[in-house]
Amino acid sequence: MCGIIGYIGDNVEQNLIAGLEKLEYRGYDSAGMVIKRENDFEVYKSIGAVENLKNKVTRRNCDFKEGTKNVVTNNNLDNDKMKNQDDKETQTQSDFSLGIAHTRWATHGKISLENCHPHFSSQKDVALVHNGIIENFETLKNELLKQGCNFYGETDSEVVAKLIAKLDINSLRRTIKKLEGSFAIVLISKNNDNLFFAKNKSPLYVAVGESCAMVASDPSCFVGKAAEYYSLEDGEYGKISLKEVVFYDKNDKIIEKKAQNLDFRYINEEKSGYEHFMIKEIYQSRIALENIIKRYQEDEIKDILKKVKQSMFDRVYFIGCGTAYHAGLIGESFMRNSFNIDIFSSIASEFQNKNYCIDENSLCIFLSQSGETADTLSALEYCRLKGAKILTITNTEYSTMALKSDYCLPICAGQEKSVASTKAYFAQCIVLYILKKYLQGKDYIEPLKNLKKQLDFGDDNILKPLARNLSSYDKVFFIGRGNDYITAKEASLKLKEITYIFSSALASGELKHGTLALIDENVLVVVVATDEKLFNKTLNNAYEIKTRGGKLALFTSIPLDEIAREKFDYVVKINQTIQEFMPIQTILQLQKIAYFTAVIKGINPDKPRNLAKSVTVE
Ligand code: AGP
Repeated sequence: MCGIIGYIGDNVEQNLIAGLEKLEYRGYDSAGMVIKRENDFEVYKSIGAVENLKNKVTRRNCDFKEGTKNVVTNNNLDNDKMKNQDDKETQTQSDFSLGIAHTRWATHGKISLENCHPHFSSQKDVALVHNGIIENFETLKNELLKQGCNFYGETDSEVVAKLIAKLDINSLRRTIKKLEGSFAIVLISKNNDNLFFAKNKSPLYVAVGESCAMVASDPSCFVGKAAEYYSLEDGEYGKISLKEVVFYDKNDKIIEKKAQNLDFRYINEEKSGYEHFMIKEIYQSRIALENIIKRYQEDEIKDILKKVKQSMFDRVYFIGCGTAYHAGLIGESFMRNSFNIDIFSSIASEFQNKNYCIDENSLCIFLSQSGETADTLSALEYCRLKGAKILTITNTEYSTMALKSDYCLPICAGQEKSVASTKAYFAQCIVLYILKKYLQGKDYIEPLKNLKKQLDFGDDNILKPLARNLSSYDKVFFIGRGNDYITAKEASLKLKEITYIFSSALASGELKHGTLALIDENVLVVVVATDEKLFNKTLNNAYEIKTRGGKLALFTSIPLDEIAREKFDYVVKINQTIQEFMPIQTILQLQKIAYFTAVIKGINPDKPRNLAKSVTVE
């Protein structure tokens, strides 16, 4: 699961780096690029975020006498040479050229320079970047080993590179026919000026600009460079130069493809004065709400809602992963309280194991910020085969999931860069609220306008001391009842994901059935209680924790009397809205608690260890 880009044009290094920065949400374990210059390859590789690669390239631009040790030219790919090479003779030029680049989320093989892409053919005159997993790589590798081929790393991707001796469309065709699994690949060779590409089950897009040509995992890389782009289907492959692009279908026929407009709404890629994207994106929930209010009054969206309403269904499924799954739980709760039909929600990776009854009377609602999550996509394809109607609610209107759905509702949140999903969760819940209201035949705009006035991001003077205290705990539990339990789940995920503190969410009533045994003075329990009907029961569960020495922080919209107030070490007040909106109102401050705790612990919340923003492997 990685991001790949190929570029032909001027300023090739800068354009490849700019593309990688946009693709970094797909992984940041290592980054690398190769540029073809005068029939040679210049190679840059670095461990960690794209910024490290950028520094390496920039240092070289500024003063090639220092900091250029890891540049490899020609055939010197051995790791020790990579570390020691003095490349004073390799001067930077910002003329027309071509190159490919990669940002990695490690699957096969440890995080190392050897496993960092690009990978090279045996003669080192073909270079490849790959996103996906080659399932039969071990068989292919064994065959190559028998033929005397040497490998410098452990990746499945290197095996693909080693399958190619001379790069042309025939050898590309022969190679991809041998591959099982998922791949988006881009290749260059020392011997010609084309980018070669192929796609199966991993996204890949192609664009031709006025003076450049590009291939990338995400069309956002083309913004500012091209007006249109081509979306590749599984099995398609081809080549592109500055003069022409040639596409082949899976039956090896040359095909004409229809270009799509590069329509990028809501793009904003800067931190705009915030220290991290995460905190900026939490506050952007307000903008997402404004975007939704505007867009969901347009006929285009109303038509989609109408079609969903007209499709006959007697069962509804909400499916997603992580935070998107939690949004699905909110959707389930909205629907359950309003319609007398069967409603289920499921983690995408477990969906197919449950043998649900899915048929043409089922509406399967897929939630995904990226629209590319492999587990969710796989469940979507399963539901399609069963004949269900598919609705995707996503932040990425051009994504694979959007394209494979009968209907797509956008969440209009704007690009979310931080790995921790914040504004997307907020916006997904809003769209689920709209869906419910529309199906009921009720107005949704006025309640949303009221919510906008009531949004509560909390008081940092209260949240920061709580985060400081929280950062000293090794174990944190979140509890709640009803929708507050869903909020507790999402808050717990957010905390563990970016602070590395062990945390778990429980239904308040469930504590006494086992987990209470873990409670002592070293445990902090965050109590979420915003539902008047459930409030007293939840407080009683909190007191059971207090009695056992646990520390308590309460997030509530309900006024407390003095006696109750004294039981809590912290109380965070939340502005009351209509009950349906309380989960998304409450999560704003809980997201901020996770954020402040990560910052206090010195962790970059935008790029937590071991994770990637978009998880494109099952
Ligand atoms: C949320 O903070 C996580 N990074 C993660 O759970 C995420 O929501 C999940 O991977 C699903 O991603 P998607 O919405 O792009 O499908």
